[in-house]
Amino acid sequence: MDIARTPTTPDGNIEMADAAVEPKAPPEIRREDYTPFAWLVPATRLDFELGIDKTRITATLEVERNPAADPTPTIRLNGDGPKLVSLKCDGGDCAGHTMDGDDLVVTLEGDSHTIEIVTEIEPSANSQLMGLYASNGMLCTQCESEGFRRITFFPDRPDVLSTYTVKMSGPKALFPILLCNGNKVDEGSDGDDHWAEWHDPWPKPSYLFALVAGDLVARNDSFTTMNGREVELNVWVRDGDLERTEHAMESLKRSMKWDEEVFGREYDLDLYNIVAVSDFNMGAMENKGLNVFNTKYVLADPETATDGDFDGVEGVIGHEYFHNWSGNRITCRDWFQLSLKEGFTVLRDQLFSQDMGSEPVKRIEDVRVLRGAQFPEDSGPLAHPIRPDSYREISNFYTATVYNKGAEVIRMMRTMAGEGAFRKGTDLYFDRHDGEAATCEDFIKSIEDGAGLDLTQFRLWYSQAGTPRVSVELAHEGGEAVLTLSQVVPDTPGQTGKKPMPIPLKIALFDRESAEHSGEQLVVLDTESDTFRFPGFAQLPVLSINRTFSAPVTISRNIERSDLVFLARHDDDPFARYEAMQDLMVGHLVAASKGELGDEERAAGTTDIVTALRSVIADEALDDLMRGELLSMPSQTYIMEQIEAADPGRIFEERESLKATIGTELKDELHRLYERAEAVPYSQSAEAKGARKLKTLVLVYAAASDPQKAAELAAHQYDRADNMTDRQGALMVLTGIDSAERTGRLLDFYNRYRDNALVVDKWFSLQAMSLHPNVIEHVKALAQHEDFTMKNPNRVRSLYMGFAVNPHGFHAASGEGYRLIADLILELDPINAQTAARFVPSLGRWRKMEPVRSAMMREQLERIAAAPKLSRDTFEQVTRSLG
Ligand code: PHE
Ligand code: ZN
Repeated sequence: MDIARTPTTPDGNIEMADAAVEPKAPPEIRREDYTPFAWLVPATRLDFELGIDKTRITATLEVERNPAADPTPTIRLNGDGPKLVSLKCDGGDCAGHTMDGDDLVVTLEGDSHTIEIVTEIEPSANSQLMGLYASNGMLCTQCESEGFRRITFFPDRPDVLSTYTVKMSGPKALFPILLCNGNKVDEGSDGDDHWAEWHDPWPKPSYLFALVAGDLVARNDSFTTMNGREVELNVWVRDGDLERTEHAMESLKRSMKWDEEVFGREYDLDLYNIVAVSDFNMGAMENKGLNVFNTKYVLADPETATDGDFDGVEGVIGHEYFHNWSGNRITCRDWFQLSLKEGFTVLRDQLFSQDMGSEPVKRIEDVRVLRGAQFPEDSGPLAHPIRPDSYREISNFYTATVYNKGAEVIRMMRTMAGEGAFRKGTDLYFDRHDGEAATCEDFIKSIEDGAGLDLTQFRLWYSQAGTPRVSVELAHEGGEAVLTLSQVVPDTPGQTGKKPMPIPLKIALFDRESAEHSGEQLVVLDTESDTFRFPGFAQLPVLSINRTFSAPVTISRNIERSDLVFLARHDDDPFARYEAMQDLMVGHLVAASKGELGDEERAAGTTDIVTALRSVIADEALDDLMRGELLSMPSQTYIMEQIEAADPGRIFEERESLKATIGTELKDELHRLYERAEAVPYSQSAEAKGARKLKTLVLVYAAASDPQKAAELAAHQYDRADNMTDRQGALMVLTGIDSAERTGRLLDFYNRYRDNALVVDKWFSLQAMSLHPNVIEHVKALAQHEDFTMKNPNRVRSLYMGFAVNPHGFHAASGEGYRLIADLILELDPINAQTAARFVPSLGRWRKMEPVRSAMMREQLERIAAAPKLSRDTFEQVTRSLG
């Protein structure tokens, strides 16, 4: 279970020379070194004798030489800590075997063999939550990416597909429910023990293996597929959580239907099981026929989950379901191809959520995530292409780049092809590569052939990192609008001198008088610079560009503030309208933070912003969900990204001051908005969700302009709330205000929900994300709270991720915030390396900060790097961040 590995010779002796020279640099794995595995494993049999403290596994592998690979006299079976109890080849002794580091290398002389391996592991001691582990008295697995090797020795790579038959046995009292991939084929009892045998007919890589054993109850339902297959659906949870599974089940059925209608994909087993576990490193996992979920993405009811939580459940349920085709039926050849399944599946879940709710609001949310998480990654030390070239620890590459930029890249193909042609491309992909471990190149080729696109140059999006910057100029010459576009793809670590990429930009040219345009057009910029002419304009039109965010780029242009006000009022593309509103505020805040604004300019800027917001409030054609988007301020993180050597303190002050001005200037309008929203009763309708969004938004502005009044209003909203959205929104505002209401409601919230772990997570994170001046002291005190534990990733994230994304706390001028996160990383690393490493990027932003903070951040990274024993995960992230 020790993650920090010591190099060993094949016979297991520690290699002192190596250890002395480079004690902790794990090897770099490179994409170009891929070779197919020398053996096929057509069938795998696993026999689990389950116990919380000790589990024994007998693995029987049928192996044959792979005719497509170079022959070798040995087979390499990856391991990561399981105790080897016995090893047999064809029922007797093997011709030879040796340990190479953690791997078991077995000599095989013939062309086909049966290997039997017995291992033992300790699930209750597994705090990394990879492999087989105990959570809340139950047993579950997490094998992606390289967790299966913590269970038994196996070719633990995604291009080795095998058909699994699994027998699970254990005490009936502890584990009344025994689940695995595929279908249950047999079961029986043996005194206090019982057993179940499962068979999964679909060949799969080891990372999709899963089992669950525990005391669980299910919400049961069914779905009939387009060809009449009756599928049993179960959502398994702990007793007591059943009432909170309805939304998950409904989301699952909607996903199944949607994938049939939109992508022509049908489910392929008679059973679909989802299990919720409270200790989980990520959101959820798409194991074949047995998804394992973080409880956060399963459990939801109005009393304990916000509207955002409901959307999260729907999106993640969809995501894991869609993986059944984009990930499981067609998997990845190697981990460099991760975006093949993740980028595509994120796009699929985004389109699904767009169809289930508000399309433009979902698009805005997705772009916000991209800009908040991926753009910073792409402009920092951890930048990598969506198909990386090398890694030391693959867990570090489950990134916003691979997932979210990966989705954007495929979305661009869809935009260029059009929906119908794109569907022909995906049909061809599913048809051509079904049952295979494929590459990103296979996907691109299928879209090319099926959709009839030439993606030769477009492939650069897969190999070049960095967010392209597009400069825009619009001129008026002899009755024509003349658009000049140029692009720069910035240097990133290890990549310089990049080539221009095809950038599809949806544009519209608005007539200033009529505020109308004569149709949206798609312009593809595929050279460094290009000019596009549009005849028929008597005067310079107003340009709306990158509509629907058709390309994941940054746009730089000198646009008149009055044009932004124009677009914020008239643009018929909701995304572009939102964008104009944001640009108006970002432009102002960037200039103000840099000290570039004189009094007059400052006043003119705020007046324009207030005027634009006022027209948004008054616009009766808007629904309230969209109105909420248009009324939201850009995040501090996003503003920081626009500034070299950013001073977070300064930006914070300017942003708060603008917020206060808006709150004061629009006091009456906001108040009326609140009253109108307050009258809408709770429901899951878009109207009611919009109303709830507005209420808390009004409180946010009030908190900046009139804190005492806001505290009263928030306390009132808290007290009469009949749902978590209102309650959490009110408490969020209250935690930032030093007031009597704050203490009372925080206490009430805790006492009310202390038995619900997901809500207690909210209680931790609200305080960690608060604008309160003493937030650092609060976080330190919360770390000592009896409900805080380093063993549960949700709890760790709720406190410390909340804090790390709180610029007000994390970037405190004292440097205390940086030290706090570095301390956390060092303490968490030996317990849960994957989760610990996810905190490193926040410190990795040091180059972007003003000199004093920059030095303090770097110092903390160096302190982590100097620690004697770091995990592979944290080691890689820290060295790249310093590099
Ligand atoms: N493959 C999972 C998903 O995106 C994410 C995941 C990765 C979960 C690694 C656990 C471990 O759906
Ligand atoms: Zn996924």
